[in-house]
Amino acid sequence: MRELIADLQAVIGSAHVLAEPDVMAGYVTDWTGRYSGVAACVVRPASTAAVADVIRACAAHGAPIVPQGGNTSLLGGSVPRDGTPIPPVILSTGRLTSLDAVDVRSRQVGAGAGVTIAALRAHAAAAGLSYGVDLASRDTATVGGTIATNAGGIRTIRYGPTRAQVAGVTAVLADGSVVGDMSGLTAGAAGYDIAQLLTGSEGTLAVITAAKLRLRMAEPAAAVVMVGVAGIDAAADLLAQIGAAVSGVLAGEYFDSAGMELVCRAAGLPPPRGRDRPAADADAARPSARAGAAGFLLAELTSVDGGSDDISQRLAEVPLPDETWVATDTRGMAALWAYRERLTEAIATTGIPHKIDVAVPAGELGAFCSELDDVVHSGASHDGEPLVIVFGHIGVGNLHVNVIGPDPADTSVDVAVARLAAAHGGSVAAEHGVGRAKTAWFGLTRSAAEIAAMRAIKAALDPAGLLNPGVLLPSGH
Ligand code: FAD
Ligand code: MLT
Ligand code: ZN
Repeated sequence: MRELIADLQAVIGSAHVLAEPDVMAGYVTDWTGRYSGVAACVVRPASTAAVADVIRACAAHGAPIVPQGGNTSLLGGSVPRDGTPIPPVILSTGRLTSLDAVDVRSRQVGAGAGVTIAALRAHAAAAGLSYGVDLASRDTATVGGTIATNAGGIRTIRYGPTRAQVAGVTAVLADGSVVGDMSGLTAGAAGYDIAQLLTGSEGTLAVITAAKLRLRMAEPAAAVVMVGVAGIDAAADLLAQIGAAVSGVLAGEYFDSAGMELVCRAAGLPPPRGRDRPAADADAARPSARAGAAGFLLAELTSVDGGSDDISQRLAEVPLPDETWVATDTRGMAALWAYRERLTEAIATTGIPHKIDVAVPAGELGAFCSELDDVVHSGASHDGEPLVIVFGHIGVGNLHVNVIGPDPADTSVDVAVARLAAAHGGSVAAEHGVGRAKTAWFGLTRSAAEIAAMRAIKAALDPAGLLNPGVLLPSGH
């Protein structure tokens, strides 16, 4: 290992090879605290050529490589696992932060893999455009990490997941060769699309060093509506009605009342009271009747002319219940979003949760949720009562089931919930990827033939299995 570190220092300079345990601490454990491992060192190359040099040096020593962006993975995909003959080298993209000028003619921008989504979105906004992916981890999650996981987020309902934004990548393969196409050409019929192959590959096929990303015309939020609902089906139906009345739905999110209670308590948010600004009657503030709500729908809307007047008129066509809050100013909208966006950190204050990210068809949402309690109780080997919180991107059927209580090392509840999603025709990995967490039951969603094809691609591009072993495919091959 000492020789490996010396070689890496020779290649990118000793200042960018971190091997002290206290310095590496923030890199070896994932965001949830559930997954952790030992690393040989952390390297921070600043160019594609340096990434290629690092990969060649690691390959010469047979050292596995774990690509890491913002380390906001919720499934252990960005951290080393123990048990490899040589501890992995974490390849951080933290210095790959170049941002090209926005090309307003093609509505595209080139960005280094280490650029954060917040920085990318601010850069696009300065040019009057918008990047189609947004998520609560925006200040830390990176371009490379979101491509590698095909991240979704709050705008998927409007613009699709990361895959829909990727026009090209530059990436380094396991043998150090550089591939990719940053021309940004939409027309292209010259064989396999490497950028799309690498999207969702979770660092197992290549290290992405830069990307050419599509941008959208800016569609500013004109209103945020939050509604107390009787359950998830009511939320989905209401979202469909809002979508029919207001064509510009930028986000459609759901969270249950257990989530609302926890986020108020843990994040110190005031419980929503009265109607902030009712759609039909701006002066009729009423006391909250929140006790009746089983959950909450939150929708963010844009309008044709950028104002909120037409939205208020159109919302008046929708039968909104008493428990409706509408905000049209920046502060009010942010205050409503906080109930939804701060859930992840609120849940983290309760311990290490089981985070089970699934998708089910729109027509199955109610059935899935009504069976969930039984499944959690039968799947969780736990003495006390597990706390279950369900929230997610209901507009695309993507639910995050969070179970707090069962031992983090015990995966029974994760498997049980994944089976339930599969039984309802859903996916066991909706937007967070497969990571380390789901390799054993990823076959509930992908066929044996598909997994064999993935293994063949992996073996062809990374025959020694050096790139992120144990992630996505069980053996790393
Ligand atoms: P990392 O966590 O560092 O890595 C993720 C995976 O990508 C790993 O397998 C890693 O090896 C690989 N990888 C990273 N960079 C590269 C690269 N340059 N080349 C090749 N492989 C690479 N996810 C969503 O989809 N939607 C959400 O709404 C959402 N909200 C979140 C909110 C919070 C508060 C948190 C903590 C997480 C959330 N996530 C969400 C999960 C996470 O932010 C995403 O999975 C994100 O895409 C990870 O980006 P990252 O840069 O942190 O990648
Ligand atoms: C979200 O939608 O907030 C995220 O995917 C994070 C989570 O699942 O906790
Ligand atoms: Zn999510």
